[in-house]
Amino acid sequence: MKTAIARAEGEALIRAKELISAGEVVAFHTETVYGLGADARSDSAVQKIFALKGRPADNPLIVHVAEGADLTSLIDEDPPYCALLREAFLPGPLTLVYPSHGKVSRFVSCGLDTLAVRVPSSPCAQAFLRAVGVPIAAPSANVSKHVSPVTAEHVYADFEGKIPLILDGGACSGGIESTVLDCTGDVPAILREGLITREEIARVAGDCRIYHPHQGEKPRSPGMAYRHYCPKCETLFFEDVEAAKSAYAEALAAGKSACILCENGLLSALEGYRVLDLGRTGEEMAERLYRLLREAERGYACLIGIEPKENGGVMAGVKNRLHRAFGVEV
Ligand code: TXA
Ligand code: MG
Repeated sequence: MKTAIARAEGEALIRAKELISAGEVVAFHTETVYGLGADARSDSAVQKIFALKGRPADNPLIVHVAEGADLTSLIDEDPPYCALLREAFLPGPLTLVYPSHGKVSRFVSCGLDTLAVRVPSSPCAQAFLRAVGVPIAAPSANVSKHVSPVTAEHVYADFEGKIPLILDGGACSGGIESTVLDCTGDVPAILREGLITREEIARVAGDCRIYHPHQGEKPRSPGMAYRHYCPKCETLFFEDVEAAKSAYAEALAAGKSACILCENGLLSALEGYRVLDLGRTGEEMAERLYRLLREAERGYACLIGIEPKENGGVMAGVKNRLHRAFGVEV
């Protein structure tokens, strides 16, 4: 199969609609990361997503729709704070998990009695969703456990010859995935931290918890149980710059190419070292993280990460992805 890359316009949108109607999978840009989409109502189309990614069968998918009205048609109950959250944040990088039964293929939620729904804001995603006119189930468009894709080329690298079409909307401005928010209780609870922060949600909904599974409990968001976002090179992680420098020297002495991934503030302490600059603010680090992890795996045998000092806001989501990419237990 030839994999085409095209802007979301004209012929490409007509092709995307044909493909989705035929039960095929189409990758598309969103403001967070690229998604791998299929008709959420079709068992076989949804199963194709799992097969392509090598995704564990118990990790449910998010359904994408063009606007809030499409979203409410997919859910059973609508807690009052959800209307406020939709008004405040949608379209945008917030996924809401609602009680829902039988509205889409049972393979989307993997047997859970809930459905995760999101209204992406990127013009590419909007054009795609409006052209196809059906709810689209879509995980991030990477092979399971690999780094999430933030350019069409990243998707191509993982799925060349395996999917027919990538709708190219350029680089993703958000850079990490949406915040996943459980809306089945009286108080919303964050299952996966992301670009919309707990503080922002609490300001609108009155309160917001961060969900942590109890010891031994099956997590409510199954995706959080897996090692994820891993670059295909050796990875080491340190709190401390001097320890990172020693590891770098050891890697070079062992004949490996190495580089250090760290926030901008450390660059002056790392003169003479190969460095990938995460930036200064949480937003910058979110936008750069996956791109730099992909760059690192292409260019180096060993990637050495240093814990950023920056905190607050989007940093909770950035650190979650960073730690999981480096396999750091927190
Ligand atoms: O920004 C995003 O959310 C991107 C773009 C493509 O929209 N999508 C994305 O999908 O990150 P994925 O499949 O890589 O991650 C979905 C997360 C997983 O952690 C999954 O376990 C959780 O959402 N999830 C999906 N449905 C759920 C449900 N019904 N209850 C709890 N968690 C759910
Ligand atoms: Mg993913």
